[in-house]
Amino acid sequence: MNDDFSLSGKVAVVTGASRGLGQEFGRALARAGADLIVTSRDAADLASFCEEIAALGRRTHPLALDVRSQESIAGFGPAAIEAFGQVDILVNNAGCNVRKPAVEVTWDDWNLVLETNLRGTFFVSQALAPHMIGRRYGRVINIGSVTSVFGYAGLTPYCASRGGVKQLTMSLADDWGPHGVTVNCLAPGWFKTQQNRVLYENEAWVEYLKERIPLKRPGQPGDLAGAIVFLASDASRYMTGQTMLIDGGITTGSTKATV
Ligand SMILES: NC(=O)c1ccc[n+]([C@@H]2O[C@H](COP(=O)([O-])OP(=O)(O)OC[C@H]3O[C@@H](n4cnc5c(N)ncnc54)[C@H](OP(=O)(O)O)[C@@H]3O)[C@@H](O)[C@H]2O)c1
Repeated sequence: MNDDFSLSGKVAVVTGASRGLGQEFGRALARAGADLIVTSRDAADLASFCEEIAALGRRTHPLALDVRSQESIAGFGPAAIEAFGQVDILVNNAGCNVRKPAVEVTWDDWNLVLETNLRGTFFVSQALAPHMIGRRYGRVINIGSVTSVFGYAGLTPYCASRGGVKQLTMSLADDWGPHGVTVNCLAPGWFKTQQNRVLYENEAWVEYLKERIPLKRPGQPGDLAGAIVFLASDASRYMTGQTMLIDGGITTGSTKATV
């Protein structure tokens, strides 16, 4: 492998690594050589994943983090830096969704989604940025979505949060680029996880989805591995502020123009 893609000697934080895509990202980064600090609201939920990563020969450190809590983020920053003495990579993966028609969205729904996905991403990044700036090295990877660039009925707070993450990525890139810290957004398409399990239980919906994806299938485990390693490594050193869509092509626009 080209050495630019090696993460040997690097330490990565992955938030929301108790399941789903957070574990996909952690696995890919560890396989590329990184040691991992992983978070969940309940650190006990990280035990089996830490064992899996340790079996790859990498160090792991579980931390409790609630990205909606100012106090939790304040404790997390120093704990993450202290764990292995450095943090090189941050993957802001922790997130949630509320799926309902816009007229039914409550004040609390809105706050839950925006506080977790957008405010959390900002303040977790801010908690580690002075450390990265001090070392003149850092890779911040915010997790976006196809909803960062497309509107979807039924996902209004989520789309607003993910559009915000795309804009936040550009603004932080401009702010921290002069200090050697890159900030990019990895925007996955549709992957089956706990967050959207209910949709995948409906076969008609899965067929509808596949029809709209040029590569004709939802995302599978491993489909995001190359992109996260690229964004976390020196291979992406001249890239910042960008949103990279890994979505089977669904955001090419899927309206047929032929009959
Ligand atoms: N699945 C997809 O197709 C897809 C597509 C695009 C983007 N995404 C985004 O990718 C990320 C991972 O998605 P997923 O499908 O793997 O979701 P998931 O299975 O629901 O996992 C979400 C993770 O976020 C953590 N989390 C939720 N609220 C949190 C909070 N307040 N503080 C700290 N951690 C919190 C959860 O940890 P605990 O519950 O253990 O605290 C969990 O580990 C999310 O941001 C999601 O929006 C997913």
